[in-house]
Amino acid sequence: MSETRRKIMRVLDGETLSPPPIWLMRQAGRYLPEYRETRAKAGSFLDLCYSPEHAVEVTMQPIRRYGFDAAILFSDILVIPDAMKRNVRFTEGHGPEMDPIDEAGISRLAADGVIDYLKPVFETVRRLRTELPEETTLLGFCGAPWTVATYMIAGHGTPDQAPARLFAYQHPKAFERLLMLLADISAEYLVAQIDAGADAVQIFDSWAGVLGEKEFEAFAVKPIARIIARVKAQRPKARVIAFAKGAGYLLKTYRQKTDADAIGLDWSVPLEFAAELQKEGPVQGNLDPMRVVAGGRALEEGIDDIMMHLGGGPLIFNLGHGITPQADPENVRLLVKRVRRGGN
Ligand code: CP3
Repeated sequence: MSETRRKIMRVLDGETLSPPPIWLMRQAGRYLPEYRETRAKAGSFLDLCYSPEHAVEVTMQPIRRYGFDAAILFSDILVIPDAMKRNVRFTEGHGPEMDPIDEAGISRLAADGVIDYLKPVFETVRRLRTELPEETTLLGFCGAPWTVATYMIAGHGTPDQAPARLFAYQHPKAFERLLMLLADISAEYLVAQIDAGADAVQIFDSWAGVLGEKEFEAFAVKPIARIIARVKAQRPKARVIAFAKGAGYLLKTYRQKTDADAIGLDWSVPLEFAAELQKEGPVQGNLDPMRVVAGGRALEEGIDDIMMHLGGGPLIFNLGHGITPQADPENVRLLVKRVRRGGN
């Protein structure tokens, strides 16, 4: 299948494609009326994640509409704490909530049964591979240990993850145990997604940007390096995209230290710095999702700047973070069209 290798896989191996392949973080979501319809039918958000029938349907929706070069498994990073019996809930207008964990709770945590609990997710991946067009890359994913831990400690989302940062200083041993346990479970979870048919996987470290330099090394770099080493030891052909949102200058050594095949960039990464990072390997990103909401010149200029700075190297065109519910689906169509035309 060498001549028909999927475009995103080729970029992950260092090829420059013109135009670059494109997919969008959170491409299946509330900005699409058909998502809202399936979501209403499925019941709760977690029911949607654990129903292979509905999860396949919402994963396929943006592929049918826009023909993206990758589909991303529909699930959530918080299915791991859910499988660890942390009582995860998604209530309308509240964001995710779960039982907050303390030092004693961490000492009792175990990996037992977690992968088994997540079997519906692997069934979704298997069905997706048979339904997707041959040329579409199928991405699996998980949350980074740090980002997942921030929700486990606070019990909900917070603006700056102060509870997890404080806990890490006060209980370094317990915190280290939590991160390493999450890393080992995540590696096993990703291997199972790959075995079910995922071509590549992305690790989302959405809260990497609140960490100081030393903490970034210990809580973001180290666990991700551990996950990637484990995944690649077991599945040498697997490709991994690591997205550390807000990491800025610390991205300079992130690829080399984690062994990620591509690094995801948020929109605050200056394009000249992004081009420097691209000399070392593939990058993914980094359009501000608000440009997709704004549309018009803001959208066009954002696309053209990225294409100008990064289009000459290995690039997977994406947003710098997930698409938001207020985005107009028509703007997404214009975005895909413009990228495929190679910018203006
Ligand atoms: O990208 C995709 O289309 C795949 C699906 C996906 C979802 N969440 C679906 C979702 C992926 C890859 C995620 C990752 C995720 N989940 C992250 C990392 C990436 C990021 O956005 O920072 C994080 C931090 C979470 C945790 C999470 N899940 C939060 C904070 C929320 C609530 C915020 C919100 O947007 O409502 C969710 C819920 C969630 N996950 C929704 C979707 C489509 C919306 C819930 C709904 O439909 O009611």
